[in-house]
Amino acid sequence: MTGRVRVGVLISGRGSNLQALVDASAAPDYPAEMVCVISNVGGVEGLKRAERAGIPTHVVAHGTYDSRESFDGAMDEILRSRGVAFVCLAGFMRVLSDAFVQTWRGRLVNIHPSLLPAFKGLNVHRRVIESGARISGCSVHFVVPELDSGPIIAQAAVPVWPGDTADALAARTLAAEHKLYPLALRLLAERHVILDGERVAYRQVQRAKGELFSPGL
Ligand code: GRF
Repeated sequence: MTGRVRVGVLISGRGSNLQALVDASAAPDYPAEMVCVISNVGGVEGLKRAERAGIPTHVVAHGTYDSRESFDGAMDEILRSRGVAFVCLAGFMRVLSDAFVQTWRGRLVNIHPSLLPAFKGLNVHRRVIESGARISGCSVHFVVPELDSGPIIAQAAVPVWPGDTADALAARTLAAEHKLYPLALRLLAERHVILDGERVAYRQVQRAKGELFSPGL
């Protein structure tokens, strides 16, 4: 497919969501292609996945920059040089500067392993189990300066079974993430979903009903 939307992916580790996006983009009708992967940590599995897929990789080690802004600036430069239109955070474990978030506003998305706005932050699955919630899930959202708080694009629901461990729930949720992220990126790349002020706007409401809420993906 020609004219595919160019996507940069930011990672810090395992990169299984990156892999899901790369695998989805192998379909000839998928509207986006991953054109660069940036990790703030060297040697991680996600970088190897990108290399295997023939995607240019960059390590931007946050510890070698004297400020959040200069670290983000280095990533911004790479993304621009690669002609990136959208940026996907996929297990990227750094908080981004307001300037970076503003620059990429409406074109910067993240996946989080809970049904936002519940359970923002870290140790999500342990906290979900402790809360007694019977349904959890995952969310793809636009990134805003406040952590895990941007307008929600798509969600999938995942059951929490009695006796679940955090690891079991994490694995079940991850399987849903791997379906949800490619679906959400498709909708973004097709401009079916856009950020309109502080809200998400959908071009075709009927289609949104079918694809953006995905119980038990
Ligand atoms: C995923 O659970 C994602 O939701 C969260 O970090 C994890 C990253 O996993 N933001 P992976 O690196 O994509 O395998």
